[in-house]
Amino acid sequence: MLITSEKSDHSMSNGHSNNHVSSSTKDDSSKNGLVRPVKNGNIPKLPQGNVTPMELKEEFEDTPFFIVLCIYVSNAILTVFGYLRDFLRKSGLEKNFMACDNREGYVSLYRSFESFYTRNIYMRIRDCYNMPICSVPGARMMMQERVSHDYNCTFEMKDRAFEVINMGSYNYLGFAENNGRCTHSVAKVIRSYGISTCSTRHELGTLDLHIELEKLIAEFVGCEDSIVIGMGFATNSTSIPAIAGKGCLLMSDELNHSSLALGCRLSGAKIRVFKHNNMKNLEHHIRTAIIEGQPKTHRPWKKIIIIVEGIYSMEGTIVNLPGLIALKKKYKCYLYLDEAHSIGAIGPRGRGVVDYFGCNPQDIDFLMGTFSKSFGAAGGYIAGSKVG
Ligand SMILES: Cc1ncc(COP(=O)(O)O)c(C=O)c1O
Repeated sequence: MLITSEKSDHSMSNGHSNNHVSSSTKDDSSKNGLVRPVKNGNIPKLPQGNVTPMELKEEFEDTPFFIVLCIYVSNAILTVFGYLRDFLRKSGLEKNFMACDNREGYVSLYRSFESFYTRNIYMRIRDCYNMPICSVPGARMMMQERVSHDYNCTFEMKDRAFEVINMGSYNYLGFAENNGRCTHSVAKVIRSYGISTCSTRHELGTLDLHIELEKLIAEFVGCEDSIVIGMGFATNSTSIPAIAGKGCLLMSDELNHSSLALGCRLSGAKIRVFKHNNMKNLEHHIRTAIIEGQPKTHRPWKKIIIIVEGIYSMEGTIVNLPGLIALKKKYKCYLYLDEAHSIGAIGPRGRGVVDYFGCNPQDIDFLMGTFSKSFGAAGGYIAGSKVG
């Protein structure tokens, strides 16, 4: 896809359709993002030279057919055995009635497959997912050994632990440690400040440390100021309703994290979901929204906010930030970027996707991130300019 976004005149802007917009597009067989084969977990280098934002592409490794086949066959076997065990339950031969919703006269609490899945599939393989970690979650970590005497309903902890390779958590910079610089400075601060302010930031809960942290974050990400919130999830779910409401339009990537989706829903604004990292689809939605205006009244939108992530945790996709900035400038939309998985993880100075693409942080209106990944802590921040 090649969109001449920078060349076409700005005849449309947030909430207002003016004249004709030349949106000459070239067809493109590739989809989404950046042309950078993601192999063996390496983050590929960005192509050198002038890259037209919209022509960045991304490629994914296909899941090997054998793996897909094994997964489907295993699921099929579990399902067949599930039905068999349900049959045995009805005939009184199976004694495990866990997760059976059989209160007489009541409508079932769960949808039927939900309880079937919990009873017959999840419970059987539960031990594979929920193993307790009993060490720092580094590249290698220790898992607590345990046994179940009641079909995985409860577990008894053993005194033994075993070492595994950690492929499932995000201590990207190794700051989550139980000894060393970070731990010692946290211990020192707790000794002089205690563990809680026992009040919200809004009331009496602001410490000089909060102010210092906010200044530091703003400096690190290259913005004028920032605000720190005690939980990453709540940073999204409570801040989006503060910046958007009735009459606003939120353009949300289809793969956005649930905290972003919840924030969008709680805001009461209209939500349009665009195809993952697909600038052409996003532009189509923005143009249509501007032309049609608000439902029923057809008034211009109060504001349009594009909401995306830097790196998508489940897919590993990197957002097409240059493309988004071009679009937001063209249509005068706001841009909300969640850098939970990219801050500290990529960019020549570890400052996230903005750093990775060499973009100007001032071009992102709401630069959000969390402390729970790279920084090995908890909480979130939103950085931006002081004046709107
Ligand atoms: C993209 C994104 N945003 C926000 C959050 C919420 O952060 P936290 O786990 O610190 O509450 C997560 C959590 O994984 C996330 O992946």
